Amino acid sequence: MQHNVFFEDISSISSKKSSSGIGINTGIDKLKSEDLKEVINYYLNDFELPDIIYQKNNILLYKGYYKKINTKKSFAIKCIIKEKKQNKVLSKEISIHQKLKHYHIIDLLGYYDCNSFSSLIYDYMKYSDLHNFQTTFLKRSILSETFLCYLTGQILEAIKYIHKNKILHLDIKQKNILVNDLMQFKLIDFSISLDYKNKAYIILPLAGSFGYMSPEVLNRKKISVKDASKIDIFSFGVLLYFSAFGIYPYDINDLNDRDYDKMAEYIEIKTLTFPDGYKVSNKFKSLLQKCLDKNIENRYNIHNIFNDDWVKGGEIIKEYKEKLCNTNIFLIDSISDNILEFNNYIK
Ligand SMILES: Nc1ncnc2c1ncn2[C@@H]1O[C@H](COP(=O)(O)OP(=O)(O)O)[C@@H](O)[C@H]1O
Ligand SMILES: [Mg+2]
Repeated sequence: MQHNVFFEDISSISSKKSSSGIGINTGIDKLKSEDLKEVINYYLNDFELPDIIYQKNNILLYKGYYKKINTKKSFAIKCIIKEKKQNKVLSKEISIHQKLKHYHIIDLLGYYDCNSFSSLIYDYMKYSDLHNFQTTFLKRSILSETFLCYLTGQILEAIKYIHKNKILHLDIKQKNILVNDLMQFKLIDFSISLDYKNKAYIILPLAGSFGYMSPEVLNRKKISVKDASKIDIFSFGVLLYFSAFGIYPYDINDLNDRDYDKMAEYIEIKTLTFPDGYKVSNKFKSLLQKCLDKNIENRYNIHNIFNDDWVKGGEIIKEYKEKLCNTNIFLIDSISDNILEFNNYIK
């Protein structure tokens, strides 16, 4: 299989020594962007890296091509310059991601890792993340319940799988779900995930995306492993709410100073409400209530959510799939050729 060959090829470049003499152990603060390029080119010289598609602090994501494979197949190459404190060989992101193999999780095709630099290689997804797909391609401010039901069916399978393997994602949001040409969704970004095997309880560092973090994370509470999956379910609830209404359930607009303690207090006193004027079913609202319950004891866990009426009923999904099958929308090369038609089906 091509992917395996690719993985083997990539592991052969992993044997490169980090003593390159280009001084990358000095810490990211001292690296200028030209140096960064040089570092990346040195380690990944089997790749052509023409386009940067994302950049944040010490992370660069390229759309690139593998020189040894003579096709125009593109890959996404996430390059991370490690900070001094992360200097352990094999980044946590790689060590967690390489154990995961699921249809709705992006495949890690290869990686490179050394003391000061790591890189993860995936298939490039044309529509990028769900947020980009919604705003750039569908040009919608919110997503329909039909669409969300379809998304839920796929992403919950990925969440169930990681929880079964005692991994918490901890950063579930639109930007960490990719969309491919066939309208399949894939979970990405295990950069702050946690492997909680052999633990009785967990206390999480204050990490995640503001607005998506559950109250027990904001409050730095000790969480028993039996409730661990509920942390990701809260974020998934925020994702659904935000996608359906275009606002956060615990609205952070007036709290954009990102004060975690203030946010925790705010959730504590706020009652979850739904904005008027949106056509959503009571079953959907009830699911959101259960996912976004601020009391972890009462919140859905991964098993409860699979038994929820809205999720389990799957009527909407069935109807949606039938519509799509009837129009052969899955068979066309790219849904962007047909984006107007597609928009009609997910009304
Ligand atoms: N395989 C891919 N194909 C296309 N775009 C991608 C791919 N992987 C990541 N991206 C884009 O890059 C962004 C950042 O990637 P991510 O791994 O989430 O990094 P970070 O840890 O900085 O959030 C994603 O939100 C998405 O827009
Ligand atoms: Mg991300």
